[in-house]
Formats: sequence, structure tokens, C-alpha cells
Amino acid sequence: MIVDGKQIRPIWLDKDLKTVKVIDQRMLPHEFIVADLTTVDHNIQAIKEMYVRGAPLIGVTAAYGVYLATLNAPDNNISDEYIKKECNRIKAARPTAVNLAWGVDRVLTEIKKTKNNEDKITTARIEAQNIEEEEAENCRKIGEYGLSLIKNISSSKNGKTVNILTHCNAGWLACIEYGTATAPMYTAFDNGIDVHVWVDETRPLNQGSRLTAWELGKHGIKHTVITDNAGGHLMQHGMVDIVIVGTDRTTCTGDVANKIGTYLKALAAQDNNIPFYVALPSSTFDWTFRDGIKEIPIEERDPDEVRYVQGMNQGVTKNVLVPPKNSPAANFAFDVTPARLVTGFITERGICKADEKNILRLFPEKD
Ligand code: MRU
Repeated sequence: MIVDGKQIRPIWLDKDLKTVKVIDQRMLPHEFIVADLTTVDHNIQAIKEMYVRGAPLIGVTAAYGVYLATLNAPDNNISDEYIKKECNRIKAARPTAVNLAWGVDRVLTEIKKTKNNEDKITTARIEAQNIEEEEAENCRKIGEYGLSLIKNISSSKNGKTVNILTHCNAGWLACIEYGTATAPMYTAFDNGIDVHVWVDETRPLNQGSRLTAWELGKHGIKHTVITDNAGGHLMQHGMVDIVIVGTDRTTCTGDVANKIGTYLKALAAQDNNIPFYVALPSSTFDWTFRDGIKEIPIEERDPDEVRYVQGMNQGVTKNVLVPPKNSPAANFAFDVTPARLVTGFITERGICKADEKNILRLFPEKD
């Protein structure tokens, strides 16, 4: 995407072909810092500590992690045992986003087809770069398909502002380009449709108020940051036309894991007859899980992320403690919205209802 006149992605391979560059998203929106990843340990740290985050970007970073493993093999010997061990370490970085294992496995499958070291390195690099480009293109298509939903609402309102609510950051920062949930917003805006986005702040790490608000602002899209609990009230008062969110893992039956709090938005949307759409590339479908609540692993992160809030004060980024020093906290990072609360999926192959039959109609090769 273009930021302040410059074309930028949240991840790219440096010209030296040895360094993976990532925007350190922990520091946005107040500081723009680019971090260098040159080893598998760096790669795992960037995923775990959320320099990079969001399902598609986690998948691409993981794919580059396998490439870094091929570059850093001891004695330049990329043995099957070594590469498998490194792949398993990368896969264990975060549990919920299925893209992580998907990205690793895609590169590993290609490596296995090659024989010598040089070929393994080149193959791993090319596959990681392919994944990066494919995910960018998938998000572009999600934007094209999602545009129709926003266009219809705009027409039914005689061109008046379309109010969209989103949760967390499923924007280009979380993907490669365009985003998933934000792609239809960008496409609608670029097509001259009047859109306004309600941005859930998304506690505890504030991916909404820090990242989505930053992205939308850079693109000139009208938006308003709201507390995580405000959505239900806005929906009751006709101030939300459509909800669009992303997902970290969606079962083949249509259950959606996404940032904690998504489920409550879906409940409120259903109670108020407001369409609730989930935008995702095919890499975020889990074709093996059938029951999202029982099967999808929900990450529990450091409780200090709940206890402390990060912000900028007099030019310095600071963490401040909110609850009493000794109060325990719990940090469930994701929840599962059952398929029955989801109006539909916006994918790179089109829009479908949230059930197995309709998902498989778009992805027949998975049947
Ligand atoms: O903990 P995060 O910031 O990685 O969580 C991200 C989300 O929940 C996103 O909504 C999801 O990954 C979709 S990104 C297109």
C-alpha cells in the first residue's frame, strides 16, 4: 500500500536475499520501525512477540522462516532431520492462526522435491515469495468481491454514508496488501463510495485503535475509534450497516476463530439484523477441523498485556499499569463465532454462505 507517498508492505525480502524486513507493528502508530530477521530464532521471536501479526502475514513470515532455516543450516547441510526440526519450532510460535503451519508446510513440501543444498535454498526462497504474492492477490480479489456488498448498501441508502464496523486489524498490515476485512473498504472508497468505519479499539493490544485507525487514516478513509463495548449500542441505533471482520482459522463447517470479542459483535449483529461477514483467503480455512469451539486452539498470552496499556507520552512510548498491582488477569487472545451467526464469507473465489456445502462449492478441490 502507499503510505506517505511510498509503496510499502509489512514484510519483504531485502536485496541481499539474506534479510527478511518487517514493520515492527508493536511500535505503531507512533513509531515506524523496520526490524531485520536473519535467523529462525529472529523469525520465531517476531511472530511470538507480535512484531508481525494477523493470520496471512504470520503465514508469509513463517514461510520466510523456513527459507532462513535453509540459509542457516549447520555446516551448510540442510538434512531432512534439521529442516523438520526448524519447521516444527516455527509452527509452535503461535497456536491459533492456521496460516502459520500452512505457510511452513508449503515451503517444506517444495524443499522435499529437491536434492542439493543450493536447490533447497533457491526453492525455499521462491516458494516464500510466491506465497507473499499470492496472498496479496487474494486480498485484492476479496476487495473486488466485497465491493458488491458495500455498493448494494450504498444504493439502498441512496448514496448516504455506509457505516461499517470492524474488530482488530485485518488490514494490509495483517496481510500483504489491501487486507481481508479492509479490502472491500479500500475498494469501495477508491470507487467513490462514501464509507465510514467504526474501529473497535480491540483490547488488550489495541490492534484496532493503533493499527486499523492508522491504516485507514493514511488512506483517507473516514473512521471513528470506539471502545470494544460500544458496537451493540451503535447497532441498536441504526448506526452500523454491516460488520466485516477477519479470521485466524475458519473450520470447513464455517466456525470462525478471530480476535477476542468478535463473538460478542456477531451476537449483537444477529440481534439487530445486521449482516456479519468474515473476509478470508483460502489459506485461513482449516479443512480438517469441523467443530471450532471444541477443536480450535485458543492462544492465552501474558496477562501483563491486559494489566498494562501502551501509549505515547511526551514523545516516549510507555506502558502504564491499570489494575491494582496484585490483581490477577487472564488474556484469552481469540474466540470462536459459530457459523450460525455468520452471514457469509468473502473469499478470493467469491462470497458464500457460512456452511460446509457452500464453502466447498467455492473450493471443490477440498471436497
Ligand atoms: O493477535 P493478532 O493481532 O495476530 O490477531 C489478528 C486477528 O485477530 C485478525 O483479525 C486475523 O488474524 C485476521 S488478519 C487478516
